[in-house]
Amino acid sequence: MQVKIIIGTISFMLTMIILGFAAIREPARLAEFTLAREGRQVESGAALYESQCATCHGVDGDATECYDVATGEQIGCQGLPLNYNQLLCGDTSARMTALNWEGSKAAFIQATISSGRYGTSMPTWAQEYGGPLRTDEIVDITRFVLNWETVALCSQPLFEYPWPETIEELLATFPTGDAARGEELYTTYGCSGCHGNLEDPASAAVGPWQGDLPTTAGTRVEGLSGAQYVYESILYPNNYVVPECPNAACTDPSSMPSNFPLRMGDSEQKPQDLIDIMAFLGMLP
Ligand code: HEC
Ligand code: HEC
Repeated sequence: MQVKIIIGTISFMLTMIILGFAAIREPARLAEFTLAREGRQVESGAALYESQCATCHGVDGDATECYDVATGEQIGCQGLPLNYNQLLCGDTSARMTALNWEGSKAAFIQATISSGRYGTSMPTWAQEYGGPLRTDEIVDITRFVLNWETVALCSQPLFEYPWPETIEELLATFPTGDAARGEELYTTYGCSGCHGNLEDPASAAVGPWQGDLPTTAGTRVEGLSGAQYVYESILYPNNYVVPECPNAACTDPSSMPSNFPLRMGDSEQKPQDLIDIMAFLGMLP
């Protein structure tokens, strides 16, 4: 009897020790499990991003290098940069503030992907809204996008160039434009993705063809020079919305991205990009 009690007590204690040890390990095990699951989500998100999103948002998410899915040809990126401090840095990022978003960053990105952006070429992705992707796939892509938030990306303070009202005032700081550089920027900023090239009117898919800008720009708004009109059209697409787009009436508000003031003004030197693009368009005064 005595022996049985002793054996019983010892095995009970052993069990408790083993269980206790497992319980202590449990949070670490769970954390490992969560990390592994997040890793798989990021991986699956990366594959989806490459097949569904890179054609508009760029292979590295910075909207500078996009390829046509069917032909493999390089095209202008129509989407905004996602691997981008203004979207990803801070609990409430600059883009969330600009769009008056009040929830979390993950919810902002997931909701944008799910429902798309009405009136722009950003498609609706969630099946519940008629798009092609399941909720878990959208969660994976969201995680993949959030994964671009790094210390390196977010260590620089955001800079916002104080854009002057007129192109003449900007030219006082940036007096000359480089048209050849402007031609490259016209693709890397995605202008050509919507406006086509300057040679062929049929190349413009979403926004008005710009080959004839030197003759049309000055006639768009009474009292506004062509140069000033183009300057404002790039920075503030909604100041004047063109009536006719290539395949239909242009939507109002404009479907042209309205964040070029941030993208072309995120450093002291960056506005040179705008001047070079205007030189390429033949629109510097
Ligand atoms: C046909 C081109 C196109 C495709 C494909 C596309 N997008 Fe977009 N996306 C856009 C455009 C254009 C905008 C900017 C809309 C606007 O002006 O607000 C945008 C905006 C966004 C934004 C908001 C960015 C911000 O700063 O406000 C996110 C996030 C986004 N897209 C994610 C995705 C993801 C993820 C995919 C793939 C599942 C995807 N997009 C596929 C064109 C596209
Ligand atoms: C996602 C598509 C898209 C992108 C990218 C885009 N635009 Fe536009 N753009 C439009 C649309 C649509 C309009 C017509 C509606 C309006 O007036 O805003 C337009 C209008 C314009 C106009 C006025 C044209 C006219 O005929 O009066 C100019 C100038 C212009 N864009 C320049 C640019 C430049 C330069 C870039 C690149 C830095 C650019 N756009 C990027 C879609 C786009």
